[in-house]
Amino acid sequence: MARTRWFLLALLVVVVATAAVLAPSARRGDSGAAAFASAAVAGDGSRAARTSVATASTGRHAPDESPARGLAVPFPVVAEEASPALAERRELGRLLFFDPILSAENNLSCAHCHHPDLGFADGRARALGRGGAGLGPARTGGVPLRRGAPSLWNAAFAPALFWDGRAATLEEQAAGPITAPDEMGEDPERLTAELAAIPEYARRFRAAFPPPAPAAEAQAPVSFQHVTAALAAFERTLLARDSRFDRFAAGDRAALDESEKSGLKLFLSPMTRCVECHELPTFTSRQFKVIGVPDAPDAPPDAGRAEVVGGRYYRGAFKTPTLRNVALTAPYMHNGAFATLEEVVDFYASGKGRERIPQGLYVDDFIGAFQLSAAGRRDLVAFLRALTDERPPQPPPAAVPSGLAVVPRLNRNPAPPPGAAHRSQE
Ligand code: HEC
Ligand code: HEC
Repeated sequence: MARTRWFLLALLVVVVATAAVLAPSARRGDSGAAAFASAAVAGDGSRAARTSVATASTGRHAPDESPARGLAVPFPVVAEEASPALAERRELGRLLFFDPILSAENNLSCAHCHHPDLGFADGRARALGRGGAGLGPARTGGVPLRRGAPSLWNAAFAPALFWDGRAATLEEQAAGPITAPDEMGEDPERLTAELAAIPEYARRFRAAFPPPAPAAEAQAPVSFQHVTAALAAFERTLLARDSRFDRFAAGDRAALDESEKSGLKLFLSPMTRCVECHELPTFTSRQFKVIGVPDAPDAPPDAGRAEVVGGRYYRGAFKTPTLRNVALTAPYMHNGAFATLEEVVDFYASGKGRERIPQGLYVDDFIGAFQLSAAGRRDLVAFLRALTDERPPQPPPAAVPSGLAVVPRLNRNPAPPPGAAHRSQE
């Protein structure tokens, strides 16, 4: 026991000393958050975490001189096969995404559960699959699925898809809902025959996937592989990188109001630890974490990542979702356990996730209670809302080549006129 304590003390000394060397910005009197952010820019997450914690424990917090410094972290590169037909591929993928022809009964499109006016999610705690009617929160009937539809914004940056990461690429993912009996329930062969019989699709597939050489013409342009490739090419265009936070990070100090700036500081602080899992600039670490979200009372317990990789440590681990556009995608978590961002923040601050440890969950060390005033709670939520990309999403196409009905626009989240959401100008 005593030995362990000495070891921990020695470790603390080393960490603090390292931090003093690694954090010249802290010596210059910046906040711990700014030190964190500059270290994060250097690309070393673990060092950044230690730096921020150590800076806090040595009490060197000083008035915030330059909160924006180090926040403008470059986005990862979207890995995509180069093709001269990329524009045609994306447009084909967009039409397929909104076309119910992808489902067995020709009545369910990707957009029924990933609607542009619902942050490319569906506004439901858990999605309703095959056999239902309507879309988004108004959808009724249909096989209840066990998880919520995640937003597709910035899925292009994700190294693994689904809440449990079971698909490695967007192409692989897209085959899932099309063929899953509970979702679109479609048979790939029947689908490609249907598509090839529609002249506009036949033409668009040829343009999007031109045969490399005359000899390869045996390979039909309308194939299931090309369906998923086109869907993925469209999804890779759904990038949310243009929020007021980004303007602030780029140096426009008026882009966030005082409450949002305080929220940002809380978000970056070693007290809340939000940024250590929701990292800049994507607001996800792209890792699977156990945070102890309660199971839905009317659904079987969800083992999450453990279903894919096994092992008790991953039981109840889920993909850390991006927080970009998070204001648009309530309810929250893999099962919609929380209706609002306020409820999410209360969950973290209460440390309630740890209540699942006795149930055998290896809840992450970064999950634990912290003191948050009413103002702090409001500020943190205000900051999360400032992560919304302000460009209105491209609306659904007016029509799709199959002639089937396209999802209508929903006015739940009307796009603000330019500048209207910029509260500091009000
Ligand atoms: C019935 C509703 C429904 C339909 C239709 C649907 N999805 Fe989903 N989608 C979901 C649900 C629920 C999940 C999460 C499932 C899980 O993680 O196990 C999901 C997950 C995803 C993901 C993973 C996102 C991430 O961040 O991990 C992508 C990408 C996606 N869907 C794209 C599509 C595409 C493309 C289509 C059409 C071919 C489609 N979806 C059709 C409900 C739906
Ligand atoms: C240990 C890593 C970790 C920390 C620390 C953390 N998160 Fe999360 N966050 C996650 C994971 C994992 C999920 C998804 C969990 C699930 O679905 O069961 C999540 C989900 C969320 C969601 C819901 C997003 C959605 O689309 O459903 C919000 C909002 C959120 N976190 C905000 C925060 C805030 C604010 C903080 C700081 C108070 C924070 N997180 C700290 C890992 C973390």
